[in-house]
Amino acid sequence: MTSLDPDDLSSNTSGNRPFQEVMAARVSRRAVVVGGTAVAAGFLTATPAQAAPASAPKKRDLLGFDAVPAGSADAVVVPEGYSVDVLIPWGTPIRSNGPAWRKDASNTAAEQAQQIGFNHDGMAYFPLSHNRGLLAVNHEYTDAVMIYPDGDAVLTKEKVDKALAGHGVSVVQIAKVNGKWRLVDSHYNRRITGSTPVAFSGPVPADHPKLRANNPPMGTLNNCSSGPTPWGTYVTCEENWNQYFGTTSTTWTPTPEHARYGVSRNGGARWHEADPRFDVAANPHEVNRFGWGVEIDPRRPDAKPVKRTALGRFKHEGMTFTESRGRVVAYSGDDQTGDYIYKFVGSGSWRVQRLFGRSPLDHGTLYVAKFNDDGTGQWLPLVHGQGPLTKANGWADQADVLLRTRQAADAVGATPMDRPEWIAVHPKTHEVFVTLTNGNGGNAANPRTPNPYGHIIKWLEKGDTAFEWDIFLLAGDPQYDPSVELDETNIFGSPDGIGFDRDGRLWIQTDISNSAQNRPDRGYDRIGNNQLLAADPRTGEIRRFLVGPRGCEITGLTFTPDSRTLFVNVQHPGEATNFWGTPTPANPRAVSNWPDFDPNGRPRAATLVIRKHDGGVIGS
Ligand code: FEO
Ligand code: CA
Ligand code: CA
Repeated sequence: MTSLDPDDLSSNTSGNRPFQEVMAARVSRRAVVVGGTAVAAGFLTATPAQAAPASAPKKRDLLGFDAVPAGSADAVVVPEGYSVDVLIPWGTPIRSNGPAWRKDASNTAAEQAQQIGFNHDGMAYFPLSHNRGLLAVNHEYTDAVMIYPDGDAVLTKEKVDKALAGHGVSVVQIAKVNGKWRLVDSHYNRRITGSTPVAFSGPVPADHPKLRANNPPMGTLNNCSSGPTPWGTYVTCEENWNQYFGTTSTTWTPTPEHARYGVSRNGGARWHEADPRFDVAANPHEVNRFGWGVEIDPRRPDAKPVKRTALGRFKHEGMTFTESRGRVVAYSGDDQTGDYIYKFVGSGSWRVQRLFGRSPLDHGTLYVAKFNDDGTGQWLPLVHGQGPLTKANGWADQADVLLRTRQAADAVGATPMDRPEWIAVHPKTHEVFVTLTNGNGGNAANPRTPNPYGHIIKWLEKGDTAFEWDIFLLAGDPQYDPSVELDETNIFGSPDGIGFDRDGRLWIQTDISNSAQNRPDRGYDRIGNNQLLAADPRTGEIRRFLVGPRGCEITGLTFTPDSRTLFVNVQHPGEATNFWGTPTPANPRAVSNWPDFDPNGRPRAATLVIRKHDGGVIGS
């Protein structure tokens, strides 16, 4: 792993006003407005929607657990009164008669395709009954040191195939048997990988000239986060897909579109060295098949995943669905420094569309967010023929706008953000929260420039095209940044996954980069390993709920409908970090050996199952 995070480098040369500047203006304006007002720990401001009227009855505390301390142990730590079990670690066969996981990483590509993938990320639980359901789990990327016995100094087609088989999505049935959740055999159990046949729908169909490649449409890659739709399907999101493409051609040069998406000669994964599918010179349109939101129906194991092109093409972090006047609304962040937040609003009732056999995700308007200094904002439509997106300006049609979504958003004047990650909608107030994980700023006049710890902002929609926004909190450690209003019970940095439970607790998962984790010189020593916290957005109270093992990030948050089981993922435990060191094929355990602690094994991403001893609601 490198000490430089590619996401921290901006590819946005549009000159749109950076969010840091807008935030500085907004922070100082709010400081005048609320100056001297006592605000709850961790909250920079209180908006009218959040502040309780003086006459409101005192609400019961949402957070009923004792905070766990920050830590750096190679372990998962949860509050007293809670249990934690490990479910479906990487390599678990998805059927009981499938190939067993081999701790020396000698499973073949064909075997990996019948096992749980690598690096669990976004996830959703789809209940079938009160003690049985389907878990859809993203597998974001693979780590050559961990998946091959001898690393990837020499790449072969078989190695690329194994990596492809480790990517994608697992759909498995789980059941609570004698009080413990476990994987069970089911016809629903399946793997979707980087090689699974896929379909396209919406304005960019599979036979669009820009999607015609040397191989049939297949695979989904870098599946970061995801969201369940109101009709019970799962949309998995393709984030850093650019890294899989490269070329050995010496004459190939990137187009402005390639540059904007970070597609380069060297790629990163180097798959093109062994598989011409990923050679961007030899197979130039394969790359256009990635960067989409991909709909999977977990209850239809034979149905192809469908890339829904109306949702735009960028480095989709995740997809969060809600409804507005019967229409589907989908939010998605583009996770790179200086990139944008998007919203899709379906045209007409999603129920009616489904009734007529049409996908509600194929018809609607894609918008991108512009944040103004005064706390207002606009959703700018990315519609061919509107604003600058005209033929005269070189935009051929709506398919062109969607294939080049980032450039279309540049053209309309969207606000560059500090790496937008997950988005969550409060179940009662409908406020929308987004994590901005960190950024590198560069403006001395900006209080959070650079912004190594990230922040969370929220907004309230005012119709389809306007919103009012505010800063919810600044993350970090006050020892290093006095503007941070957190303490020992809740210091954290680099918020990534967020989600609400049914009662309105806001759960915050962190993904401090491997280059900064645990390091005093980066202001991350007291924060320790990545973690999960819970917040009460009404009071501003925040408590640390879980700390993960070394080198991991915490992600994937999803609950059973009764909120009495929490599933959460430990991704990339034991990955190289600047603080702990670098695992090698000879010693993959150099950083972590979680969860097996086998002296001859290796660390494995896995799902955690968290329950309360008394069977109560998690967090209560
Ligand atoms: Fe895949 Fe932005 O995390
Ligand atoms: Ca993430
Ligand atoms: Ca992240």
